[in-house]
Amino acid sequence: MIRYYKLLIAYFLCPLISVPAMAASAVPGIIPAPVEVEMREGVFAFGAGTVVRCSYELRPLASYLYRETGRRVRVESVAGIHGAQNVVWLFVDPAAGLPAEGYTLEVTRDTLRITGADRAGVLYGIQTLRQLLPPHDNLPVSVAEIPCVRITDYPRFPYRGFTLDVARTFTPCEEVIRLLDLMAFHKMNRFHWHLTDDEGWRLPLECYPELAREGGFRGGGSPIRNIYGAWGERYGGYYTPEQVWAVIDHAAFLNIEVVPEFDLPGHSRAVARIHPEILCRGPVDTASSAGYDLRKVWCAGREENFAMIERIIDEICEVFPGAVIHTGGDEVPPEQWETCPDCRALMEREGLENTAALNTWFENRVGRMVAARGRRQAVWNEAADGGRLEHDPVIWAWENHESVERAVRAGYDVVNMTSQYYYFDMKQSASEVGLAWGGVVDLAKTYGYEPVPAAEGDGRVIGVNGGFWTETFLWNGEWWRDYQLFPRMCALAETGWSQGSARDFGDFRERLDRWHLARLDALGVAYRGAPGVGIREAYAVPEGRIRAAYELTGSVPCTARNPYSHAADNDTRTFARTERTARAGDWFEFRFRSPVECGSITVRSGYSALPRFVIGPAVLEVSYDGRTYEVVDPRFGYTGTFRPRAAVHSLRLTVTGEGNGEDAVIIQDLVIMP
Ligand code: ACM
Ligand code: ZN
Repeated sequence: MIRYYKLLIAYFLCPLISVPAMAASAVPGIIPAPVEVEMREGVFAFGAGTVVRCSYELRPLASYLYRETGRRVRVESVAGIHGAQNVVWLFVDPAAGLPAEGYTLEVTRDTLRITGADRAGVLYGIQTLRQLLPPHDNLPVSVAEIPCVRITDYPRFPYRGFTLDVARTFTPCEEVIRLLDLMAFHKMNRFHWHLTDDEGWRLPLECYPELAREGGFRGGGSPIRNIYGAWGERYGGYYTPEQVWAVIDHAAFLNIEVVPEFDLPGHSRAVARIHPEILCRGPVDTASSAGYDLRKVWCAGREENFAMIERIIDEICEVFPGAVIHTGGDEVPPEQWETCPDCRALMEREGLENTAALNTWFENRVGRMVAARGRRQAVWNEAADGGRLEHDPVIWAWENHESVERAVRAGYDVVNMTSQYYYFDMKQSASEVGLAWGGVVDLAKTYGYEPVPAAEGDGRVIGVNGGFWTETFLWNGEWWRDYQLFPRMCALAETGWSQGSARDFGDFRERLDRWHLARLDALGVAYRGAPGVGIREAYAVPEGRIRAAYELTGSVPCTARNPYSHAADNDTRTFARTERTARAGDWFEFRFRSPVECGSITVRSGYSALPRFVIGPAVLEVSYDGRTYEVVDPRFGYTGTFRPRAAVHSLRLTVTGEGNGEDAVIIQDLVIMP
């Protein structure tokens, strides 16, 4: 019998036992790594004639095992575990002494027993069993040999979550369900559904049906401005009540609690465009936005707002059965509250010194509504910046590690979602597409981060959470989702589940490369580096370009710091930036000092690594004589390459749409190739 332990605590306590790597040949590397793995001789033949026996209550999990392994196993409902051959036993044994969600998986030549501390434990035993099977071997008739082994396993943290922002980019219900399946495969148990934000309201409500019906769409005549890759067309969507229930049901089956978020008092432009009366008294903010009012904060001094919020919270609590309701509290711009007479009067009355205190006051008021309905409030870390939160909320610390430490010190329960490690919209290397304000977040960085501050010993950090914010999604397309999430989500899952002392990036990487990526392949996950996906570099300026002399002018003034000349200096590190967005009728012109002969010209707008501040819908024309123009691209968006048929005199872009949804346009140097 070979014995080894993943639990390095045990290793340090028993320095004489040698600990071979998880990669040792017999057991496929499991992710997240189990607490304890004890190898034995022999194999169990899973497949032909295997019977699954379990109590009536566990039959749906037996069917799940059947479905997920693709094996034609028979399911029988029986009590007791009397000896038989070729049997998989599933049972719950609260007396087994396992922590919540824990399980043992014991494989002998005759039987395979999964004993859960609870139903969730059985589910997680099944997930481990799935990983003991060969990844590509899911033919119903085949037999898989599973090594004899005894695994004892339980989670490090009770909260192992994932945030999906469906406001910036709408994610259809079927795709949400696919992600839930992948979460469960990695033993994750909380789905944070970011359903409302400035760019859309996706939650159907009986009390305010217009919020989803109208607020679910942007651009193309919607009161919500277009932005983030859907310019000049109506974009959006919202869930039906049946779809919300389908997500909640599917999640519940997989031991995943759905945490819905109603983000307020900031991040509320969508609701404010449908119900402008919720805003502070004061001037509209349209100067930079092609006519769209950019205000997005609920007025704290307008009493009727709290009646509306309470109706929404009430319905959310009716629809979502989970213990926690997220009420936002992040990134509230202070300006409107500072100038609003009603908010100022309120601050005076309540003795609130600043807008941070007003934000905390606001979240306390909403927290009371949540608590009155028997639920627990979750808030972003800024909600605690202006005083004490009174309703025992869970703080979701996202800004940085200090925000985790601050919340822990203040004695709150904390979900660690630090953007510098757990925001999966961040780029994965310097040259790839993605956001970078949280830095480059590569796999080793996500994996290597210890989520519990060193000084903390009393379990205040209740878990970890990965965030997928979707501002840049439409730019990149569907491939972007799996590419950003996997395998970083595997690393997060292991941090959430496996014992902290056992984490070793080299070992994790080996388990990924030898086994787990093949499992993801078999599940159809197009992870970063997957066959056919590879590594996607951001736009790189090719070698050997022609540095022609040209002048750029336009109808929109540029900033002094980024004048038009910066997009005409052949230095691709600099760019031009306008003082406002471009609207229908605005134009930009590139005029060559002398006609240039070339093979192709690429016109680029927006940042080169992060497509924002683009020109948006425009017509691109070329002139070969300086007098007449011909259209080369009637639907220019942010970049375009064309092949001139003669020496080019000038290029002209005429904007046709309603702006790019931002407050500026960035124009890059032309890339001219021989
Ligand atoms: C956040 O990223 N504003 C939570
Ligand atoms: Zn106000």
